[in-house]
Amino acid sequence: GSTCKIGPSILNADLSSLASECQRFMECGSDYLHLDVMDGQFVPNLTFGHPVVKCLRPKLPGVFFEMHMMVQDPEKWVEPVADAGGDMYSFHFEATKDPELCIRKIKEAGMKVGLGINPPTPVEVVLPYVDQVDLILVMTVNPGFGGQSFMAECLPKVQFLREKYKNLDIEVDGGVGPSTIQQCADVGANVIVSGSAIVKNENPREVIKYMRKVIDD
Ligand code: DX5
Ligand code: ZN
Repeated sequence: GSTCKIGPSILNADLSSLASECQRFMECGSDYLHLDVMDGQFVPNLTFGHPVVKCLRPKLPGVFFEMHMMVQDPEKWVEPVADAGGDMYSFHFEATKDPELCIRKIKEAGMKVGLGINPPTPVEVVLPYVDQVDLILVMTVNPGFGGQSFMAECLPKVQFLREKYKNLDIEVDGGVGPSTIQQCADVGANVIVSGSAIVKNENPREVIKYMRKVIDD
């Protein structure tokens, strides 16, 4: 079976039609939605938060929402995000003093746990937590904006994790699309976030299909 999962990041979609844009990408063969929350503190930008996601939830029943929380002190928002219908809460190692507490809170709230690291952060910092989380998110851009260039120098982190953990879900996020997917596949990434490459393309279905094939082969 395929272990590849593809989640569009809708940051660069038409956010005034959020629900129908999300529906469109799900109908094009996405496995889940990657929802980028920014707080203007952890990253130099703002997007949307749990109130918007709460409105989105009933319009997309059964769709898996990964909440990519690019926020300082992520433990603050665990309960509101769970209440809004988040399925996975992915937070950044760099954003909290106590990753273990954050992990515990997320689990208590009934969500799956993703742990992310920014490009400058060494991969070894996640090792104490791998057994406690559902996914490791290796950023391939500095978070804050869609449409940035892919940083291939982050890929050895994915390779390092894949060599140690055969079955771990390893997600890449930032600048991933048809021209960079092969490099991600080669190092063993299996959960793929793609924003502009899907959202700005006239045929998102073909883009998703192509990327899935590269990962699965
Ligand atoms: C970056 C976000 C990403 C990003 C993906 O801050 O976390 O999810 O928007 O978009 P692209 O694929 O355009 O880099
Ligand atoms: Zn993201």
